Amino acid sequence: MEGKLLQQYQKRVEQQLTTVLQNTSDAEQVRLAMNYSLFNGGKRVRPVLVYMANQLLDGQISQADSAACAIECIHSYSLVHDDLPAMDDDELRRGKPTCHIAFDEATAILAGDGLQALAFELLTTDNSLPADVRLQMVSVLARDSGYLGMVGGQSIDLCNEGKQISTMQLELMHRHKTGALICASIEMGALSSNNAGKADLKALNSYASAIGLAFQVKDDILDIEGSTETLGKPQGSDLQHEKSTYPALLGMAGAKQKLALLNQQAHDSITCFNEAAEPLHWLADYIVERQY
Ligand code: IPE
Ligand code: IPE
Ligand code: MG
Ligand code: MG
Ligand code: MG
Repeated sequence: MEGKLLQQYQKRVEQQLTTVLQNTSDAEQVRLAMNYSLFNGGKRVRPVLVYMANQLLDGQISQADSAACAIECIHSYSLVHDDLPAMDDDELRRGKPTCHIAFDEATAILAGDGLQALAFELLTTDNSLPADVRLQMVSVLARDSGYLGMVGGQSIDLCNEGKQISTMQLELMHRHKTGALICASIEMGALSSNNAGKADLKALNSYASAIGLAFQVKDDILDIEGSTETLGKPQGSDLQHEKSTYPALLGMAGAKQKLALLNQQAHDSITCFNEAAEPLHWLADYIVERQY
């Protein structure tokens, strides 16, 4: 049942995304690269979280569309830049050549920049949302994608290549580079419902914080245990770049133990919503059980 819901939300955001890039002959190269990076088979986990939080709080689903598209634009941009030679230097993403390989490095940098700006344009121009809600969403997304969130985490990641760091530093890095955008997804989904009370936000925030960290712990595990074919990205990239990861620091058994603990924390955080939170329970399991 929840698997169907996942597909339904994936389809919804894909349809919405097809309308966000205008068909213009101006700046054709960068538009093509943005389009290439938005539509190359992502799982759309973050938009799905936006929709789930909106529906949990009885929101109008159409009011979650701009936030769903915005978070996917930011995520997509983060991956385009993550794969660049100056960062993880990877040539495969979602089973296809990365943006800088399919186009060129300068175009990939600009495509990321364009996707980032587009995210904020989508939020600010959504006339179906009250102005104060738009403003709050912009503020959440700016904070969680910036130096206090994803960008900060990416910087910590790069600064720590080839170094031994503590588990505390590792957790901080993962919470920033991956957890922050997952927290933003849930928070924007809750805001889009126009129905979120303080207690709802608190419970949802601890859920998001648990699955956000779990998401990257699982990503680290898959980098070792997955195959390039299933992952659609190069297996062993972390080892090659001497990245600080959970398996590297805690060993594979320790990383899996941490993952199970975070999954339990996620489930425990949302018991207050009773059956209404079934989709979120399902998604927590999906994140820890996924194979790509
Ligand atoms: C990959 O994210 C990068 C991380 C933050 C770990 P996803 O696994 O959500 O990537 P796609 O969008 O489904 O390809
Ligand atoms: C990426 O982490 C996190 C962000 C893009 C913000 P990784 O570098 O581990 O992601 P993959 O494995 O390349 O997808
Ligand atoms: Mg990286
Ligand atoms: Mg990478
Ligand atoms: Mg990875």
